[in-house]
Amino acid sequence: MAKGSFDIRDIALAAQGERKIAWAALQMPVLLQVRERFARRRPLTGMRVACCLHVTAETANLVVTLKAGGARVALCASNPLSTQDDVAASLVKHAGIAVYAIRGEPRPTYYAHLKSALALRPHLTMDDGADLVSAVHKDPARYGTEVMGGTEETTTGVIRLRSLEAQGKLRYPIIAVNDAKTKQLFDNRYGTGQSTIDGILRATNRLLAGSTFVVCGYGWCGKGLAQRARGMGAQVIVTEIDPIRALEAVMDGFRVMPLESAAPLGDIFVTVTGCSGVIAQRHFRRMKDGAIIANAGHFDVEIDLQALRRLSRGRQGIRPGIEQYTLKTGRRIHLLGEGRLVNLACAEGHPANVMDLSFCNQALACDYMRRSAARLERKVYAVPEEIDRQIAALKLKALGVSTDRLTPAQQRYLSSWELGT
Ligand SMILES: NC(=O)c1ccc[n+]([C@@H]2O[C@H](COP(=O)([O-])OP(=O)(O)OC[C@H]3O[C@@H](n4cnc5c(N)ncnc54)[C@H](O)[C@@H]3O)[C@@H](O)[C@H]2O)c1
Repeated sequence: MAKGSFDIRDIALAAQGERKIAWAALQMPVLLQVRERFARRRPLTGMRVACCLHVTAETANLVVTLKAGGARVALCASNPLSTQDDVAASLVKHAGIAVYAIRGEPRPTYYAHLKSALALRPHLTMDDGADLVSAVHKDPARYGTEVMGGTEETTTGVIRLRSLEAQGKLRYPIIAVNDAKTKQLFDNRYGTGQSTIDGILRATNRLLAGSTFVVCGYGWCGKGLAQRARGMGAQVIVTEIDPIRALEAVMDGFRVMPLESAAPLGDIFVTVTGCSGVIAQRHFRRMKDGAIIANAGHFDVEIDLQALRRLSRGRQGIRPGIEQYTLKTGRRIHLLGEGRLVNLACAEGHPANVMDLSFCNQALACDYMRRSAARLERKVYAVPEEIDRQIAALKLKALGVSTDRLTPAQQRYLSSWELGT
């Protein structure tokens, strides 16, 4: 690729990235089936797709699939700390994808990279957190003239898009990939559950057994995380603001209490709410010496870092991914991954087996949007149910699992009202 049509750390890392991408592909059989179909039918011919996603080996397999379908693709990072530089290099060198992403890039570079991806003049935006959509909406004359639709990967992005839609400002239809059952129930729950623990363990090398582990937010991600932390022997406390979710956590066997009460008890705290200022000054003040705090929610707003800095007399790096804040009281609080998504900042994000489902949704949603954009309104849409079910069926098949089928008599029974007791 011509110099200037990408911006990455080091092209010499490409061979290592290629091996990583191949390793992930082994665990993505459903996406590979879609890739083969795309390569045969070329449904995305002529489409330009700008993607703002975590630049990982799994994402690489998605963008290669889009390219196999005939699309031209530009990729930038959806988080400054989640890029795998070797993967970015391989995408440029071996797949001819225009990648704009460097791990640890400062904020101005992050935004410059978004704009570089949008310079492709996309027909479709594929976001993880709605940053491309947001940039298009801030300067539609420059970036939005040819966009026909978009897709969105995560809960926080969907919340931002629904807000745009509610204000009547959304300029094009978007498919909320996040809300597909084959995404939320698996990626958010099992993916975030495992990879968040992975990030914490890689950064800290702590034994979880016997620790008190506080999960803030019992949504899809929080449920997975609480379950996995319990599985490793931690005593788990859940904090919530929603009475139904809180009740669910109680019935799932977790202790539920306000964060202010959990603050002096916890050894490890993880926010995964999509909300801002969840761990605040009043909580830091009550935490034990040595407490560990991390965030797995999309943006780095869940832990009030300004308050932590105000309370501290100094901070220093302890190990990669751990910053120790010494409070004026002498107590120490350890922040993981700068308060950014700990599973990507301190580990490698979700395993490929689960991203197989999420990225199959992305690829098929992209194809669906190409076929349907003209009749869709400027709204946030769900992934069509037949796509969701098709992905689950394909994954089951790949896992060698079969299910029962309804007999005609059962089908008649389930669609009738006459028969009762
Ligand atoms: N780390 C990852 O790889 C990853 C993967 C998927 C989603 N996410 C992100 O994680 C966040 C959560 O996603 P989700 O799908 O679980 O969302 P969700 O809407 O299912 O759950 C969020 C939960 O947090 C609760 N909550 C909100 N504010 C709170 C507060 N101040 N204190 C305590 N609880 C609060 C809500 O009531 C809700 O139950 C989002 O930002 C999402 O984008 C991250």
